[in-house]
Amino acid sequence: MPNKLIALAAERLRAGGVVAFPTETVYGLGADARNEDAVRRVFAIKGRPAEHPLIVHLAEIDQAGAWAAEITQPARQLMARFWPGPLTLVLPARDDVPRVVTGGQDSVALRAPNHPMALALLRKFSGGLAAPSANRFGAVSPTEAWHVRTAFGMQVDQLLDGGPCRYGLESTIVSLLDERPRVLRPGALPLSALREVLGEDGIEFGEQPNLASPSVSSSLPRVPGSLAAHYAPATPLEIHPIEALPARAAALLNQGLRIALLRRNQSLRGKPSLPSLPQFLLPARAETYARSLYARLRELDRFAFDCVLVEAPPDDETWWAVNDRLSRAAASR
Ligand code: TXA
Ligand code: MG
Repeated sequence: MPNKLIALAAERLRAGGVVAFPTETVYGLGADARNEDAVRRVFAIKGRPAEHPLIVHLAEIDQAGAWAAEITQPARQLMARFWPGPLTLVLPARDDVPRVVTGGQDSVALRAPNHPMALALLRKFSGGLAAPSANRFGAVSPTEAWHVRTAFGMQVDQLLDGGPCRYGLESTIVSLLDERPRVLRPGALPLSALREVLGEDGIEFGEQPNLASPSVSSSLPRVPGSLAAHYAPATPLEIHPIEALPARAAALLNQGLRIALLRRNQSLRGKPSLPSLPQFLLPARAETYARSLYARLRELDRFAFDCVLVEAPPDDETWWAVNDRLSRAAASR
């Protein structure tokens, strides 16, 4: 572990700086969550609208009480089981949590990342780091340090390089604001893991009804990752079941378009043959597919295809997070 770099990063954070750091999911763009100016800089660098809240990253479960007004029983269970790890919990915020972090809401999202460099930084800094994924608003999240460097260059005060991220997909977000835990964003922690703790019927899905003021809540993008178009590469994507790909490819080629195919390894076995076109492969299993997906989408952008046809992954629960990101990436036009 490069202790000197970590110590320097912690110092910069204390001085109100912005430091990009690796987590097990994707790279984050961190600032002292108690320093409003530093947090505002993160929003500015990312080009993120102020009402989209940030996750506060912590080193230990014990720090959660400094941010959450109340830690419910399911929250305690989930932290004990999955922290540090790719699970973000939304809890009622204490009054002293800067509302610039929470996008003006009275709730706060907390997570302890399971990455040695992130944990070393958090321990050295010994506070909460507000950190969104280290990409421009709406773009694909960074899973390697050079993705961050390419996007932001000298705009960040320091970039800690921890190599490629283990999961390559953002954390699962669970809200504990109403009676039953609610998954707001599928992510790196599988639903099956949540069920082990919360029981088969212990989880709700989707947007939170805002109890205080429903009319305001419907116009408030509480989870920007829930915008239809997000996580989007520059290249237009179309998702089709593998059986539909040959006809669609032929139609686009007939229009004179430059297209490519993004599919799973071995998915064409015994399937109708495709017109000859560039093909990009991803691993066949959900977990390894997720790990490489964002890097592959970035790579595709360099070729400036008119369109990339994506083989629709299986429709089952293990692919939920992948399918969620793919459909948002394709929804941008
Ligand atoms: O894996 C991850 O979660 C990565 C790494 C860096 O930790 N972070 C990440 O942050 O994906 P970001 O900002 O790109 O996405 C955070 C999500 C947003 O969709 C945001 O709306 C949601 O968390 N969020 C944050 N605070 C919230 C709150 N109080 N209520 C509901 N959603 C919240
Ligand atoms: Mg993000």
